[in-house]
Amino acid sequence: MNARAAGLIDADWAAFDPWRPQAVRHRLTEHPLLQPAQLVEFGRRLERAAQLYSFSNDATAAANFNEVGSTHPNHKSAQETLQDISHAKAWMLLRHVQGDPAYRALVDSVLDEVKPQIDHKDPGMCYRAGWIFVSSPHTVTPFHIDRNHGILLQVSGTKTVYVWDPDDATVVTERARDWFHGHRELALVQWKEEFRARAHVFHLQPGMGVYMPLTSPHMVETSDEPSITLSLSYNTHASRRNALLHVVRDRLRGLGIGLPPVGQRPLFDAWMHAGARTADDLRRSTRRWFGRSTRSDGVPYASDD
Ligand SMILES: [Fe+2]
Repeated sequence: MNARAAGLIDADWAAFDPWRPQAVRHRLTEHPLLQPAQLVEFGRRLERAAQLYSFSNDATAAANFNEVGSTHPNHKSAQETLQDISHAKAWMLLRHVQGDPAYRALVDSVLDEVKPQIDHKDPGMCYRAGWIFVSSPHTVTPFHIDRNHGILLQVSGTKTVYVWDPDDATVVTERARDWFHGHRELALVQWKEEFRARAHVFHLQPGMGVYMPLTSPHMVETSDEPSITLSLSYNTHASRRNALLHVVRDRLRGLGIGLPPVGQRPLFDAWMHAGARTADDLRRSTRRWFGRSTRSDGVPYASDD
């Protein structure tokens, strides 16, 4: 890896490919905002703002990640869970931490540092967000995909991260990705034990991390100790384009029109994307004309969605 003595993140930027998982290292393990006592306090504040997501660690890799909070509920409060995470038998997510000024500064300190390197191959960083995962021993984060690129940074404890390539159609089909972007649902993302053999496997210790591209399937298992992980996510011109192309495919599939997989026919993709952008701009203009709000994922920071 390229040594950057004063930096927070080390990565082999020469080898960086925005569409491939990659190991990184970091220097955030002693950061005061990421220590257990601070997270208990922050968790209490986020609980009042309904910015927590949690589930019991009886959930397996096969659970639906979007629904596991209700199918496998953690009945403890944020304070009860975070104060004694070793025995809480739970997984707790502190969501959209960039909404807090101090945590936004932490998110920016990392993303500002890596942005020039990322811009070189994947320009247009936007929609920044920060997430903190606090997990009991022997807890599984169910198999799922996300709507952004992400950098997972292990702060304390150890965990094993299974990541699959974002175009591995054996693990998550093109139709499942289309449906995910079009409906924001994981209904077609289904776990099978045999997928483990196809995964990139990262055994994370404090100070280690992994970069995961948009819709790279992933599943995480903690070890016999509790774990704290910081995740930073963002979108780029290319990730937004990819997502929009999947939405178009999903809509046209609903009309009985099948299209080639995203990326297989670049000129066709370019034509489809131009058309979709025009339609999307028109829709937003119409909403604004009638005084209705419009949502944009091109803004600097993610909203609470
Ligand atoms: Fe995820």
